[in-house]
Amino acid sequence: MSTRNSNGSLEPREQWGTKLGFMLAATGSAIGLGNIWRFPFVVGEGGGAAFVLIYLGFVCLIGIPLLIGEISIGRKGRANAMDSYKTIKPKSKWYFNGYISILINFMILSFYSVVAGWAFYYFVLALTGQLITNDRSYENVFEGFITNPFMPIIWQILLMGLVVAIVMGGVKKGIEKWNNILMPTLFILLIILVFRSLSLENAHIGLQFFLKPDFSAINSSTILAALGQAFFSLSLATGLYVTYGSYSRSNSNLPANAGGIVFLDLVVAIMAGLIIFPAVFHYGIDPQSGPDLVFITFPTMFTDMAFGTIFAVVFFFFVFVAALTSAISLLEVVVAFVKEKFLMSRKAATIIAGAVITVVGLFCTLSFGPLSHITILDRTIFELFDFISAEVLLPFAGLILALFLGWGWKPAGVKEEVEKEGNPFPLFKTWSFLIKYVIPIIIIVIFLDSLGVI
Ligand code: TRP
Repeated sequence: MSTRNSNGSLEPREQWGTKLGFMLAATGSAIGLGNIWRFPFVVGEGGGAAFVLIYLGFVCLIGIPLLIGEISIGRKGRANAMDSYKTIKPKSKWYFNGYISILINFMILSFYSVVAGWAFYYFVLALTGQLITNDRSYENVFEGFITNPFMPIIWQILLMGLVVAIVMGGVKKGIEKWNNILMPTLFILLIILVFRSLSLENAHIGLQFFLKPDFSAINSSTILAALGQAFFSLSLATGLYVTYGSYSRSNSNLPANAGGIVFLDLVVAIMAGLIIFPAVFHYGIDPQSGPDLVFITFPTMFTDMAFGTIFAVVFFFFVFVAALTSAISLLEVVVAFVKEKFLMSRKAATIIAGAVITVVGLFCTLSFGPLSHITILDRTIFELFDFISAEVLLPFAGLILALFLGWGWKPAGVKEEVEKEGNPFPLFKTWSFLIKYVIPIIIIVIFLDSLGVI
C-alpha cells in the first residue's frame, strides 16, 4: 500500500489512525447543510411525514448498497477517486467517472463555501453578542450581508483558509483529528437544541407535520426530490467514499461502516427536523421558506427565548461545524487527485486546489449582489453551479457507479474485497440484485426528470 510522492519515490499511503476516525470523518462529510437546512425544507415542500418515509426507503435501498460498493472501490484501489477505477479495471474507461467526481466536488465546494461562509459569519456575530437584537430586523441584516460586495467574500475566504489549513495537515493529523473533536461536539449541541425545541408551546403541531404521514401529498416530483436529497445528504457517488475508503484499514467491516454512516446521517436529519418543525409552527412560519429558515427564522426564535443569545451561539456553531466538516471532505477529494496526478506535495496540492476553488467560489458569492444580473439558463451563477453539480452530474455519476459495481467490477469482485480478512457480507444476493437492476433504473428516472425529459 504505497503512493508515489512529489519526488517520484514511493511512500506508505496515508491511513486513518483508528476505525472510529474513518467513521467520524465519513459522517462529518455526510452531515452538513444538507441535513440542517435542505432536509427540513424539502420535507416542508414534500408534505411532511410521507416524504420522510419515502426518503427512508431510498436511503436503505440505494444509500446503503451504493455506499458499501463505493468504499470497496477505494479500499481495493488504494488511490484517488479516479485512479482507484484504473487499479481495479486497468484497461477500461470506467475511470472517466473519477473525472466527473472531481468536477462535482470542485463545483459543489465553490457554492457550498458561500453558505458555509455565511454560517461562519453568523456564528461570530452570535458569539460577539451582535446577532440577537431587539429591533428584529433579521431579514434586512441577512439580505444586506449576502448582497454586500465585500463582506461575504471576506468570510468565504476565511472559511476556505480554515479548510485549507486542516486539509494541509493530512489525513490523520488534519482531517481525522478535527473530526474527532467536531463531530461529538455536534451531537451534544443537537441534543440540547432538540430538548429546547420540544419544550416550546404547541411543539406537537410541528411534530405531527413531521411524523404523521399524509400520503395524498405524494406525487412523482416529491419522490424524485426524496431521491436527490438522499444522494446529496449522504455525499454519495462523488468519490468521497473512494477517497476516504482508500485510507481505511484492510480489516474494516464495510457493510457495518456503511450502515453506521447512513444511520448517523439519518439521526441528524431527523433531529434537525425535531428542532426545526416545532419552532416553525410555534412562530407561524412557512415550513417551505428554505435557506431563510436558518438565517432569519432562528434568530427570531432566539430573540424570544430565555438565554436566547447562548442558544444562538450554540445553534450557529452547530451549523458552522456541520458545514466545515463537509467542506473539508469536498476539498480532500480534489486534493487527493491533484496530489497523485501531478505528483505534488500535499501542501502544494491543497494550496493550489483551495485557491482555485476560492476564486471560482467568489463568483458564486457575488451572484447574490453585484453579479445578480448575470443569468445563464435562467439561473444565477450560484444556482447554476448547484443545478449542474447536484442535479445533472450527481445522478449521472451515481448511475455510472452502480453500473461499474454491477457490470464492470461485478458483484463477485466487490464481495471478495468486502469479505477480506474474514468480514461478513450480509444479504449479498439482495445487494447484487439492487446494484445491477433496481438502482440503475431508479437513477435513470431521476436523471431524466432533472433534465426535464419526463
Ligand atoms: N453531504 C453534505 C451535506 O449534507 C454535503 C456534501 C459533502 C456533498 N460532500 C458532498 C454533497 C459530495 C454532494 C457531494 O451537506
